[in-house]
Amino acid sequence: MRHLMSPLDFSIEELSDLFDLAEDIEKNPAKYAHACDGKKLATCFYEPSTRTRLSFETAMINLGGSVIGFSDAGSSSAAKGESVSDTIRVISCFADICAMRHPKEGAPMVAAEKSSIPVINAGDGGHQHPTQTLTDLLTIRALKGRLNHFTIGLCGDLKFGRTVHSLINALVRYDNIKFIFISPEELRIPDYITDMLKQNSIPYKEVIRLEDTIADLDLLYMTRVQKERFFNEEDYVRLKDFYILDRAKMSLAKEDMLVLHPLPRVNEISVEVDEDKRAAYFKQVQYGVYVRMALILTLLGIRV
Ligand code: CP
Repeated sequence: MRHLMSPLDFSIEELSDLFDLAEDIEKNPAKYAHACDGKKLATCFYEPSTRTRLSFETAMINLGGSVIGFSDAGSSSAAKGESVSDTIRVISCFADICAMRHPKEGAPMVAAEKSSIPVINAGDGGHQHPTQTLTDLLTIRALKGRLNHFTIGLCGDLKFGRTVHSLINALVRYDNIKFIFISPEELRIPDYITDMLKQNSIPYKEVIRLEDTIADLDLLYMTRVQKERFFNEEDYVRLKDFYILDRAKMSLAKEDMLVLHPLPRVNEISVEVDEDKRAAYFKQVQYGVYVRMALILTLLGIRV
């Protein structure tokens, strides 16, 4: 039995197979419509979500399976003090596979250790969000035709943004990737990530102004400031609108630069950018369904 806790749980070759499968699902949805007949997915979400939970549920329904779960810790027995370890033992009696989001780093890993069904980390605190990374990689591969030879700018809350941490971990395994980290001083990328880049001789630089670097980028990954991870409201209010990507800034960028965002967006991308052909963030959401379908099939060992 296999779980997904980090994008590094799959080798580059396995990821390539997963993305091939996702692209086949996109082209031939009918072929997969009954692949999971009789199977159940449990979505155990202890933190709010729109995309990840509904994307998982859509993925399972598209495969012919069904879905159980909760979308709020307060409506589960966690509110009565039940541990994640006990909850997953119970869920293992009901479902064939589980996607879990939790505010505490490592909680899905604790669940996986006690589970008798595959557990997917659907986001744990400020740590990792591996299925968002699979979504991001599939989107880049589909729209750019490759996963190497890029300069990628990651902009916004690089301290708390778990999607950023997961994506960097995944991208360092591809050739010739250069990172530009664009953030205010208070939201800089954690040292453990820059230490890892130094150890692997992967080029990166840190800048504060998006305007100074946008022209160098092949990919721009925007993120929101993670309000829920701040200890005080005053700091959040001071930093929340530090970056706003608008038409004027897009005019400085390459003609084929892609703009990605894991969403939800708050103010960091002006709605006027949505019409720009380089804006890929809503396409990203659709790729998220295909890749989660491929992931469910892979973890359940179902071949079509
Ligand atoms: N990208 C993402 O994780 O979105 P949700 O929080 O809505 O699931």
